[in-house]
Amino acid sequence: MEELKKIAGVTAAQYVKDGMIVGLGTGSTAYYFVEEIGRRVNEEGLQVVGVTTSSQTTAQAESLGIPLKSVDDIDVIDVTVDGADEVDTAFNGIKGGGGALLMEKIVATPTKEYIWVVDESKMVEKLGAFKLPVEVVQYGAERIFRQFEAKGYKPSFREKDGVRFVTDMKNYIIDLDLGVIENPVTFGNELKAMTGIVEHGLFNGMVNKVIVAGKDGVEILEAK
Ligand code: A5P
Repeated sequence: MEELKKIAGVTAAQYVKDGMIVGLGTGSTAYYFVEEIGRRVNEEGLQVVGVTTSSQTTAQAESLGIPLKSVDDIDVIDVTVDGADEVDTAFNGIKGGGGALLMEKIVATPTKEYIWVVDESKMVEKLGAFKLPVEVVQYGAERIFRQFEAKGYKPSFREKDGVRFVTDMKNYIIDLDLGVIENPVTFGNELKAMTGIVEHGLFNGMVNKVIVAGKDGVEILEAK
């Protein structure tokens, strides 16, 4: 599994060229992409500026000496490479397993070429087996939780080390155990309309390419 993640991450690095502004994703697969960019910066003199999607990736990129800018200081990101938790046949996806979905979506939005790197286990017919992360502001979070319960979404507050997990943006994550999400676009809109929800982990129709590493090799899927 780890080897597949590495293959996907390193394969994605081929889309990064000199002079680009590059979105650096978060998670155990994007990790290998960031490592490869760091290697090229140090060994090949690759000239890029990175825009990170979490404090974790910022720490990794800084340790590798990748020059960084804030998303506020750039107009367009040439290419962003990130992981995903599930990808369906219509190229919608769930992200946020690592809790970085808000920054990840903010970086994905101004990106020209948005690439996901996954191992084959992430490819699904329909989304929803993976619990959908929803980022909510702390104030009023219990009320949103109760609304989710009433709707039958089986919510749980994300925890880490026995305490409630707080994101880089100082919010909570509520994970929804939905089973199958029949219409991710409609469901995403429903969530966005609820006051107190900052963002959800449905990334609908955003991705341009999915690099899938499997036992039989690497497949590069182009979204229409
Ligand atoms: C981080 O919040 C996530 O969106 C990750 O990109 C996603 O969970 C995939 O992570 P892995 O590559 O570690 O499975």
